[in-house]
Amino acid sequence: MTRTLITGGLVVTAAEETRADVLIEDGRIAALALPGSQQWTADRVFDAGGKYVIPGGVDAHTHMELPFGGTRASDTFETGTRAAAWGGTTTVVDFAVQSRGGSLRAGLDAWHAKAEGNCAVDYAFHMIVSDVNDATLREMPGLLAEGVSSFKLFMAYPGVFYSDDGQILRAMQQAGDTGALIMMHAENGPAIDVLVEQALARGETDPRYHGEVRRALLEAEATHRAVQLSRVAGSPLYVVHVSAREALAELAAARDQGLPVFGETCPQYLFLSTDNLAEPGFEGAKYVCSTPLRPRDHQAALWRGLRTDDLQVVSTDHCPFCFKGQKELGLGDFSKIPNGLPGVENRMDLLHQAVVDGHLTRRRWIELACAAPARMFGLYPRKGTLAPGSDADVVIYDPHATQVISAATHHMNVDYSAYEGRTVTGRVETVLSRGEVLVDRGEYLGRPGHGAFLRRATCQYL
Ligand code: URP
Ligand code: ZN
Ligand code: ZN
Repeated sequence: MTRTLITGGLVVTAAEETRADVLIEDGRIAALALPGSQQWTADRVFDAGGKYVIPGGVDAHTHMELPFGGTRASDTFETGTRAAAWGGTTTVVDFAVQSRGGSLRAGLDAWHAKAEGNCAVDYAFHMIVSDVNDATLREMPGLLAEGVSSFKLFMAYPGVFYSDDGQILRAMQQAGDTGALIMMHAENGPAIDVLVEQALARGETDPRYHGEVRRALLEAEATHRAVQLSRVAGSPLYVVHVSAREALAELAAARDQGLPVFGETCPQYLFLSTDNLAEPGFEGAKYVCSTPLRPRDHQAALWRGLRTDDLQVVSTDHCPFCFKGQKELGLGDFSKIPNGLPGVENRMDLLHQAVVDGHLTRRRWIELACAAPARMFGLYPRKGTLAPGSDADVVIYDPHATQVISAATHHMNVDYSAYEGRTVTGRVETVLSRGEVLVDRGEYLGRPGHGAFLRRATCQYL
C-alpha cells in the first residue's frame, strides 16, 4: 500500500477552506487532519506550506481529435489529456460522435478506441446525437447503463450535427423518461446560414464576420426555444458554451421559475471578445468558435451569472486547430474556418486569475471548475472534491507564482495560444491522479494509459 502525505497547505474545496494535512492511501483520500496533529508516516511527503491544495479540475467539455470543418482537432487523447494534467485538470469529459446514418453504438465504440490506453488523466464521454430517429432513441438507455449519461444536440450546423425541433423534442422526451441529461448547442443554425450567405455575397469574408452573423439574438432565441421544448418534454436541460448576455437572461428567467435548466460558459467568453476576432490580417481566425466571442460588454453579465449560480460550470470546449494549415482553410471565407479554440491547459489558471481579479471567491473557483461539473455529470464525490474516499486527484497550487501564457511553453498540440502573452498569477506545482504523481515542479511524470474510463451516474443536480 502506497501512502502519500501532503502537509501544511490550505485545502480549498467548494464547501470550505481549512489548513490541513492530507493522507492518501492506495489512490484515494484516506483522511484530512489539522496540520501536525497526526503522527502519519508516508512513502512520499509533499510540503504544501504557503500553497493551496485543491481537487483536480474536471473539464466537462473537450473535443480531442474531433473531425470537424473538413479537418480534425489537433490534440489527440494522448496530447490533450497530457496538457490537461499540466494545467491541473485530472478529469475530462469528451464527446463521442454519432455519424449521420450510423448508430450511437458505433460512435461510442470509435471514441473508446481513440481514447483507450492513451489518456494521461481519467476520462468519460457524452454522446453527440446527430441523427435522432427511432433506432437512436432506443439506444439511449443502453448508453446510460454504460455510464454515458448525457447527450448533446445541436440547433446549429444544418446538414452536419443539426436536429430540428421535432427531433429535439423526441430526444428530450426520451431523456426525461430515462434520467439522461440533454446538452444543447443553442444557436439558430438555419437563420445563421442565411446571414452567412448574405455576408459572403457582400464580400464580407474576414474572420470578424463570423461574430457578426452568429447574432446574440439567435443564441438567445435558440436558448428560449430549448427551454420551452424541455418544459414540454419534462426533461432537464444543460446549455453549453453560453456567450451572449441575452441567452444568459433566458436561462436566468427559466431558473427563476424553478426549472431544471443549467448553463456553462468557457474562459474564452470571459477573457476574450470580438476585438480578438477583428485582429488584423487573418489573425482573428485563431478566435473563431461557436457560439462566437461577443463584444467585451457581455463579460460582466457572464461573471455575474457565475456568481449568482445562473451559470453552474466553466468548461473549456477545448477544440484546437492549428493556425497554419487548419484555420487557414477559411482564408477568403470565414465560414470555412474550423470552429474551436484550445484551452484545456489554461482553465484552472485563468479562473484563479478571476479570483485574483475579484470576480470569484476561491471556493467558487473550485465549485465551477471541479465540484459542479462532477455533480452535473454524475462523478461526485469520486471527483471534484477532497474528502475521505474520493479519488486522490489533487493539485498543489502556488497562488503567488506568476506565469506568462504562451504557445512557446504550453503543452497542447497547437501552434498558437488564444491567451498569448497574458500574465496570470498562480501556477500548478504538483498534480496527482488517483495518488500517482503526473506533474511535479515543472517535470512531467505521467504516462499514456494511466487515465481510465469513468462510468458516470446521472446528473446529481436533480
Ligand atoms: O467552436 C466550437 N465550439 N467547436 C466545437 C464544437 C462545439 O460546437 O462545441
Ligand atoms: Zn457546441
Ligand atoms: Zn464543444
